[in-house]
Amino acid sequence: MESSWILFALLYAAVVAFVAKLIIKRTKPNRKIPPGPKPWPIIGNLNLIGPIPHQSFHLLSQKYGEIMQLKFGKYPVVVASSPEMARQFLRVHDASFASRPSLAAGKYTSYNYSDLVWAPHGPYWRQTRRIYFFEVLSPKKLDLYKQVRANERQHFLSNLQALADELHEMVDEWFLLSGVLNIGDWIPWMNPFDLQGYVKKMKALNKKMNKFYNYVIDDHLARRVEEKDKFTPRDFVDTLLKMAEDGEVEVELTRDSVKALIQNLIVGSMDTSATTIEWAIHEILRHPRIIEKAKEELDEVIGRERWVEEDDSSRLPYLDAILTETFRLHPLATLLVPHYAIQDCNVVGYDISKGTTVFVNVWSIGRDPKAWDSPNDFLPERFLGKEIDLSGSNFALLPFGSGRRICPGYHLGLKVVRTMLGNLLHGFDLKLVDGMRPEDVSLEEEHAMEIEMEPGGGRGVGDAD
Ligand code: HEM
Repeated sequence: MESSWILFALLYAAVVAFVAKLIIKRTKPNRKIPPGPKPWPIIGNLNLIGPIPHQSFHLLSQKYGEIMQLKFGKYPVVVASSPEMARQFLRVHDASFASRPSLAAGKYTSYNYSDLVWAPHGPYWRQTRRIYFFEVLSPKKLDLYKQVRANERQHFLSNLQALADELHEMVDEWFLLSGVLNIGDWIPWMNPFDLQGYVKKMKALNKKMNKFYNYVIDDHLARRVEEKDKFTPRDFVDTLLKMAEDGEVEVELTRDSVKALIQNLIVGSMDTSATTIEWAIHEILRHPRIIEKAKEELDEVIGRERWVEEDDSSRLPYLDAILTETFRLHPLATLLVPHYAIQDCNVVGYDISKGTTVFVNVWSIGRDPKAWDSPNDFLPERFLGKEIDLSGSNFALLPFGSGRRICPGYHLGLKVVRTMLGNLLHGFDLKLVDGMRPEDVSLEEEHAMEIEMEPGGGRGVGDAD
């Protein structure tokens, strides 16, 4: 008797659920979502994404088009793969997509989304961006810190040598872990298993980086105590600590926020330039004529008596063209940092729901044959005599992103990369090791490089500081 009651109750619940589903389906307006592959239960389309996600997206976009929708687990993910679609998400509907998804990387490696990269759109993010612009990246501050850095670099690094080497490795790993596809982000019930081991690595990395930031903060606090009334902030860390203590801010800055913001400055300045330069060198080693042409320009404009300085860049158009071509084919953030819809939005006739993660495939856009002639060839000459815009207005070329989330460090990043690449070309002879031919230089995205750099190369450039 009891079992037939249970059966009846279950049947009744199933009928109610079925009718409710029918009613919801009828009353819900027809939504038009972007084209894309049919998702599987539970995994969605995760099976279609290989170890290099921007390349998987690129291939899928050849089939489904410049805007496509996939499912990662049960979550919608939209990929923009043309200059026009980048413009739609980053300019036309910028306000709707200016947030970030809450992924494990932001939680475990960026102090629970306290840095500027992973902070969701809102008052904290606005405040930290303002702080960055006024306290680190304004032209006045950039000049000021240049001097401070020059004065303090020696002292700081000699105290920190061991930590500094370790820091490089940590920053590399931070970038790697920020870009991984962590299954638990998309299928939350799998989170506790951490099948790929990424979360474990993120936690371990955070522990190591924390040690470094504590050292930096304590060192700065000690100077404040030592100098008492005579203390004035000398650098960004001093300024942040003062703001945190004085409470001169709308949203509280905790010690963790200070660490997260220091981290942005470090990862933004270190790996970004190193990776871009590594790609530039890979490409030019494949084209010795480019090295020759760049050296001619450097000899003519700089001469052999000195090194390239930040202010020289406007007089080195060929060097600039090499760098821009590198950004086109090898953007550092191939998919930018993921954007996230904070409200429902209609984009070119498609309904994108609140909570959708958006990837802008800048890597694919740099290879779009509709936007670029001979898109796969490395041809700096294509930029000569043309106005080069990297500030987010040319949607075919977005190494720094565009719109509200554009990289706030792009002026600084460009200055550093231009000067470093200029000096590498000016002061060294870049040559392949014996027996290696230009066409042997790999452009695989996982690669190792083997080159010889001869200091000076007999060119008589003055000693580096
Ligand atoms: C060659 C150098 C650099 C490149 C190629 C680069 C590229 C980028 C890209 C593509 C983004 C994401 C934009 C988006 O999501 O739409 C970004 C964001 C960011 N970058 Fe850079 N960057 C560089 C240097 C720097 C430097 C020097 C700093 C620090 C001073 C920095 C700090 C940041 C921060 C804090 C964000 C997050 C902004 C936000 O979400 O509001 N970057 N960068």
